[in-house]
Amino acid sequence: MKFKRVNLFYYSPTHTTQKIVNEIAVGIGIDPMKIIENNLTYPEYADSLIEVEPHDLVVIAGPVYAGRIASEAIKRLETIKFAGNAAVLVAVYGNRNYDDALIDLREVAHHAGLRPIAAGAFIGEHSYSTKQFPTGRGRPDAEDKEAARDFGHQIYKKVQSLNTKEGLPEPAIPGTFPLPERRVIPPSFAETVFENCIECGRCQEVCPTGAVFFNKGYQTKPELCTICCACLKECPRHARVIKSEHVQKFREMLASNCAARKQPETFF
Ligand SMILES: Cc1cc2nc3c(=O)[nH]c(=O)nc-3n(C[C@H](O)[C@H](O)[C@H](O)COP(=O)(O)O)c2cc1C
Repeated sequence: MKFKRVNLFYYSPTHTTQKIVNEIAVGIGIDPMKIIENNLTYPEYADSLIEVEPHDLVVIAGPVYAGRIASEAIKRLETIKFAGNAAVLVAVYGNRNYDDALIDLREVAHHAGLRPIAAGAFIGEHSYSTKQFPTGRGRPDAEDKEAARDFGHQIYKKVQSLNTKEGLPEPAIPGTFPLPERRVIPPSFAETVFENCIECGRCQEVCPTGAVFFNKGYQTKPELCTICCACLKECPRHARVIKSEHVQKFREMLASNCAARKQPETFF
């Protein structure tokens, strides 16, 4: 079997998922001109989508929130029209656990008529990680990126060895099925420390859900904030914070319980 292009679909507020899928694409070894990046992170993503063709290999990817793929990622993936493509499923998590996230992606794939041929769970710096309370700091690092490229290369080899009639078997993926109810993330939101803010607007630009607006300073609509931490990580003055006690406790728990390095896992 041959595919003509690699079509990447990902949601990635703090860019770790984006980095991993790009390394996978490099590992697949296709002409870079034939790698199509569909970044679903920002509200205007639909304006630049490129139509999926039947001979494209599709990669769908998103970050793990509370053991599942982030709901925003699922919602956006569900808007894409696929063409019965072979698909690679990728979950990126913050060195705690990916729990049922790959099952989430498998279900999205099945409902969209995609045929999963491989899956991988990779590690990115935890969105809540700080210098003082680090979890997965600096990941994906060089070793993770090499693992992602190697995964891409294995996908390429599998697809090449394929007799067009049989198709690749679907990978056995760890996780609970049927999927349980999503765990409720206690409500909290990111906000501005006005004394530190220089009003550059970066927080508004990088917010995936349009939760940040300007009204005598950058404010947040709490009901839209998914505490993805994009604004915290990108603010040049560290003027965006989450004040919630729950998040602070969680940050401390992660730094002490999830310090041991987890390794990427792949499934064929
Ligand atoms: C609300 C929320 C919940 C999260 N839950 C988990 C989790 O259950 N397990 C885990 O290992 N990491 C968890 N993370 C960390 C992210 O999965 C991780 O930082 C990921 O690399 C972020 O991807 P992105 O850079 O593409 O946005 C969570 C992050 C957020 C914001």
